[in-house]
Amino acid sequence: MPEDNDSAVPNHVAIVMDGNGRWAQERGDPRVQGHRQGVEAVRRAIKYCGEHGISVLTLFAFSSENWQRPRSEVQALKGLLFSSLKSEAQSLNENKVRLRVIGDLAPFGVRMQRLIEQTERLTSENQALEVVIAVNYGGRWDIVSACRRIAKMAVEGALAPEDISEETLSRLTSLYPTRDPDLFIRTGGELRMSNFLLWQAAYSELYFTDTLWPDFDDHCFDRAIDAFRSRHRRFGQTGEQVLSGNSRGG
Ligand code: IPE
Ligand code: IPE
Ligand code: MG
Repeated sequence: MPEDNDSAVPNHVAIVMDGNGRWAQERGDPRVQGHRQGVEAVRRAIKYCGEHGISVLTLFAFSSENWQRPRSEVQALKGLLFSSLKSEAQSLNENKVRLRVIGDLAPFGVRMQRLIEQTERLTSENQALEVVIAVNYGGRWDIVSACRRIAKMAVEGALAPEDISEETLSRLTSLYPTRDPDLFIRTGGELRMSNFLLWQAAYSELYFTDTLWPDFDDHCFDRAIDAFRSRHRRFGQTGEQVLSGNSRGG
């Protein structure tokens, strides 16, 4: 449904947390130092969402393309993910945050998968805020995985091709049942989506900032929310239709 955005905060914010490497390099530090500082920015963003009535925060932490980075950096990122999950689980739970991890977790090994399962289970009943971390995630992977499952159901005779709808595919993507992001933020100055939530961001409001992820603070978040509020979401309708709250005619 079209919404008047003036006072509304986005229900679901998705962020491509980019710029950690450059943040560190600007200081003459190794890139991994930027990723460490990036974890601080994640903590801050989660707190911000909790305080501002945002229901879902989805964070892009590692893309399916990031395996192409130097082995040492990939190792450092995996290590940081593991240690952050371990050290933050309790506090997330105390703050009634529900944590979910999406992406192809197979290459991460049993130890990581077990920790993810434990954290998801521990926090599964929490309702203050849902935090979704996307690791080894790619929007194309997400769509292809859903297509595979659809094809399997069709081959087994459980689904007729003419019954396949957008809803069918949506239900099989990894973010389901969480609704699509309202606001899609990318830090770090690049103007691209880098294969994040391609299906789900079809109608998200896009917001790009040059601020590097470790520097993204409450003030930067405020600016992104203000930008969101100034947008007119029409979802294909005319501005007049949206204003009159009329879905047809007008
Ligand atoms: C984003 O920061 C974090 C990950 C991709 C894991 P980058 O590491 O891409 O930082 P830049 O873009 O090189 O500055
Ligand atoms: C996108 O950032 C992925 C994450 C933030 C996890 P990248 O730095 O990998 O994106 P590109 O390579 O500049 O497109
Ligand atoms: Mg980058």
